[in-house]
Amino acid sequence: METHSRMRGRAWRWAGSFLAGIWLAGCAAQSPSILAPVSPKGRAEAELFWFIFAITAAVFVLVEALLLYAVLRFRARDPQAVPPQIHGNNALEISWTTATAVGLALIFAMTWRTMAAISQPPADALPVRVIAHQWWWEFQYPTLGVTTANELVIPVGRPIRATVTSADVIHSFWVPQLGGKMDAIPGRENTLWLQADVEGTYHGQCAELCGISHANMRLRVRAVSESEFQRWVEAQRAPAAQPADPLAQQGYQVFMGKACVGCHAIEGTPAQGKVGPNLTHFGSRTTIAAGLLENTPENLARWLDNPPAVKPGSLMPRLGLTPEEIQALVAYLSSLK
Ligand code: CUA
Repeated sequence: METHSRMRGRAWRWAGSFLAGIWLAGCAAQSPSILAPVSPKGRAEAELFWFIFAITAAVFVLVEALLLYAVLRFRARDPQAVPPQIHGNNALEISWTTATAVGLALIFAMTWRTMAAISQPPADALPVRVIAHQWWWEFQYPTLGVTTANELVIPVGRPIRATVTSADVIHSFWVPQLGGKMDAIPGRENTLWLQADVEGTYHGQCAELCGISHANMRLRVRAVSESEFQRWVEAQRAPAAQPADPLAQQGYQVFMGKACVGCHAIEGTPAQGKVGPNLTHFGSRTTIAAGLLENTPENLARWLDNPPAVKPGSLMPRLGLTPEEIQALVAYLSSLK
């Protein structure tokens, strides 16, 4: 038999590592939090969270205190004694029912107020179409004639009106620090607006189970200054760069001769596929494979060699490319700035 103190020690150690695990999970590098908002909408949502948390924390402390008081104050000191038999207490029952109703009404009113304040995008919002795919994100700027993938570039301080839909199954678009979460449903267009008040990169994640690589369906929002955004738009609107060096030219031939053209578009070339990400300015993106890997030649070669090994279930199959073909493709794709 274990002694009580040994068991207590074990329980404390278990509780300690459990809490440390939660704490570490919350602080993991670059983990985005709705409690670190950088947008007017995100701030309104965080304020609502803290308001509801304060009410529920107060209720928890009050109820636990009363419970402990009752347990200690009215515990049976004489096991044989029969306590006085009573039935109900109208004053108490009316007061705790009323207090609960008032608390819930307050939460309802504040939630309603916050929803009304943040639901409509400002009139001057920049329209963006967000199309979710298994397992990557397509971003179209219809008024600017730009299509890109997995990295949404936005001007800082300007509201974005995102029309969210899906090409296959239900996904959910979520960038915690910019506020709100919106389902991406095939055949339906949902509207969400977002804004970043501080320049920087904000991580997002698909928030609806959508298949084997749901957890690998990441995105980034890069909020840049207005002038940098204009430069980015100019560069994105330009047709794809012509391959300059011999290796990149060879890569171009591989791309146009293999299955790549069936799924990907590169503007200004015969490649006009619509199934996979548009690669016209692939070299300007910082990540590949829906944010799974940094966009480096080594990672790109790894991806081209065996996509499902990087992203399980990837709809891009293993194409059986030779190492030479992969090196040529890497040179060509990386040159598409
Ligand atoms: Cu897309 Cu989960």
